[in-house]
Amino acid sequence: MAEGFFLGDIARRTLGLYEDETIGVRLHTNLRWRSCPFVAVAATMPATGPILEIGCGHGLLSAYLAMASPEREVLGIDVDGAKIRAAARAAARSGRHLRFEAMVPGELPQGPWVGIAVVDVLYLMQPADQEELLQRAASLLAPGGVLVVKEMALEPRWKFRIMRMQEVAAVRLAGITVGATMAFLPPARAAGWLTSAGLSVDCRPLHAGYPHPHHLLVARRSASL
Ligand SMILES: C[S@@+](CC[C@H](N)C(=O)[O-])C[C@H]1O[C@@H](n2cnc3c(N)ncnc32)[C@H](O)[C@@H]1O
Repeated sequence: MAEGFFLGDIARRTLGLYEDETIGVRLHTNLRWRSCPFVAVAATMPATGPILEIGCGHGLLSAYLAMASPEREVLGIDVDGAKIRAAARAAARSGRHLRFEAMVPGELPQGPWVGIAVVDVLYLMQPADQEELLQRAASLLAPGGVLVVKEMALEPRWKFRIMRMQEVAAVRLAGITVGATMAFLPPARAAGWLTSAGLSVDCRPLHAGYPHPHHLLVARRSASL
């Protein structure tokens, strides 16, 4: 059974931050929580210090990170102004060090960050832009900092096909997700870019119990310069 199916206390309080939002936002955040292994992603992030999430959407992971540890200072950014406004309202209810800002594509806020998360965003960008975003994010990491990338793998093939059908519906038909393109690449490509950027990379499949081929890259900058 997927980890997000049964809600723990922190997950329940995180989703509760959205309870005054529209039915559409509440439905989206609840489904999103149950379909993405956020708890496993969050477990790779430092428990204290400044954390950046790039392409945060409604801000679920950022909000969960802040709710799980009051010593984190979390900033979520996204190109979708409507999602950022909903995320900012959730942040105002959180009582935590949590804020959200609209971003211009390609522009990232100054670091250093002890943790940076990029969850299901790269596939909406051309491969060259994916590489540039990861290289720039890597350059903003503090010594010992971690850059976590959750994307979809191309295997198992049947899970990839299910996920791609849903994404085509979300991006091209329903317009739920902003993105001009869809470019799913094997996780080894992003791992190679992160290695070239001087990080040591650990690759972990995360799809057990999920119908989608979730995959995690955990990339660390050395603590010594
Ligand atoms: C599938 S959603 C994932 C949202 C969030 N990370 C989550 O896990 O719920 C993809 C997000 O990427 C954002 N996005 C699309 N293109 C982007 C870009 N070039 N830079 C940053 N974010 C982008 C979209 O607005 C959308 O919120």
